[in-house]
Amino acid sequence: MPELNDIRKTLEQHGQEHLLSFWDDLNEDQQQSFLQQLEAIDFDELDELIESHVRHEPDKSIPDDLQPADPIPPVGSDDESAMALHEQARKKGLELIAEGKVAAFVVAGGQGTRLGYEGPKGCLPATPVVQKPLFRLFAEQIRAAALRHRVTIPWYIMTSPTNDTATQAHFRQNDFWGFSPKDVMFFRQGTMPAIDRDGKVLLARPGRLALSPDGHGGCLTAMRNSGALDDMARRGVEYISYFQVDNPLVHAIDPVFIGLHAMQNAQMSAKALPKREPMEKVGNFCKVDGKVHVIEYSDMPEELARQCTSDGRLRFNAGSIAIHILSRSFVEQLTEGGRCRLPWHRAEKKVNFLDLQSGQTVQPTEPNAVKLEMFVFDAMPLADQTVLLETRRTEEFSPIKNAEGPDSLTTSLHDQVRRWARWLEQAGVSIPRDADGQVAAAIEISPLYADSADELANKVDKSISISPGQNFYLGSRGQIGGS
Ligand code: UD1
Repeated sequence: MPELNDIRKTLEQHGQEHLLSFWDDLNEDQQQSFLQQLEAIDFDELDELIESHVRHEPDKSIPDDLQPADPIPPVGSDDESAMALHEQARKKGLELIAEGKVAAFVVAGGQGTRLGYEGPKGCLPATPVVQKPLFRLFAEQIRAAALRHRVTIPWYIMTSPTNDTATQAHFRQNDFWGFSPKDVMFFRQGTMPAIDRDGKVLLARPGRLALSPDGHGGCLTAMRNSGALDDMARRGVEYISYFQVDNPLVHAIDPVFIGLHAMQNAQMSAKALPKREPMEKVGNFCKVDGKVHVIEYSDMPEELARQCTSDGRLRFNAGSIAIHILSRSFVEQLTEGGRCRLPWHRAEKKVNFLDLQSGQTVQPTEPNAVKLEMFVFDAMPLADQTVLLETRRTEEFSPIKNAEGPDSLTTSLHDQVRRWARWLEQAGVSIPRDADGQVAAAIEISPLYADSADELANKVDKSISISPGQNFYLGSRGQIGGS
């Protein structure tokens, strides 16, 4: 058990003794839990960060020699050698999946502030007919891949201290969406204290620090600290298929992507797509000294984002959709010794805090604190070898980020319907469309029935009919549901 005197000394050494201001008001349990919270903080590291990221702003200048990155063309492109590579990669990927060397990993620790949904984002009903929660949609995809290959594909889910209990309860209440509980592992991401402009750590209330998640880059250390990496090693998993909780179109297990990563001995790979417009809120894949970097949309100078090539295309056109393959050995290497080698980013935010004089909670109207986060894509330049694979937006990316407008539930539902309608049309099923060519029915297909256009084409009865205005659902055994 941590001792008060030791902690007091540490706090004094680091100029944070104000944190004990309300010590005498705490009961014994509260005191114990507060001591544990304080003991978990590496105050030496925090001092360095306060100096570099709070008292000063870290250098965000963009390297002079920034070059556009150059992804491998997507499925269906007319580049024959790339398509031959895809075919080879598909075979390799399928082998690796069948050998049990692949795990799925979703980062679901975000706070979903922009969406305004109470509760973990993964529990959001997000499909057009059945209104499946995002977690169910991913669970079905991963199970479908596992069933196809008669193998276990374990699923790792990173939560945050705020949404962990609710996330796990959701899985228990829903029988783990068909997974065996031993093959789903939840772990919490780390947190960092919020710091005011004077470099003081803020209290949320007496005996509680104002903590916030340490960013999705925190997943690397969280994988190590939680034992997830050891669990993967025990199971023989070598490749981690990483995706975000907010994108219902993701292909959670993609043989071509996995195969390319493995064939090129990559340590970390990423999917890219052509940006919708120069300032789209996605990271930009760039190259510096031959290494792939992601320059976040907020850091990319507008002039560079708008630069065009002689044929009128955006020069920096490859956007990040936060889908990666990480080699387990690479994550082990990056987190050796418990500290992660990713850089920290600062964000100025409004953080509720306890006023030390009045003892009241203050809800600031302006940003009052610095939050520190790591981003997983900062691991790309640390990799010796990376693969960048272009994909198609209509096939793989329609995130739910905002309550309305672009990247909202409404736009994502439309994009899901469009994709499933296109798969059915490619298979020879006729789809009702309105005068503008838009799909005139709500359409959904269970990933357990078919998880790609090709799989669907091999199975579906081409004579099924879908009427305008229908809610059409093709269930796990091909049964037709909806209304
Ligand atoms: C993110 C990427 C951006 C990419 C875009 C694609 C960042 C900084 N930017 O933008 O480059 O183009 O997605 O959709 O990530 N999460 C955690 N823990 C955290 C923070 C986030 O698990 O501490 C998870 C969220 O649950 C979510 C994902 O990370 O699944 C993305 O987080 P978010 O903050 O929404 O990123 P974006 O700004 O949308």
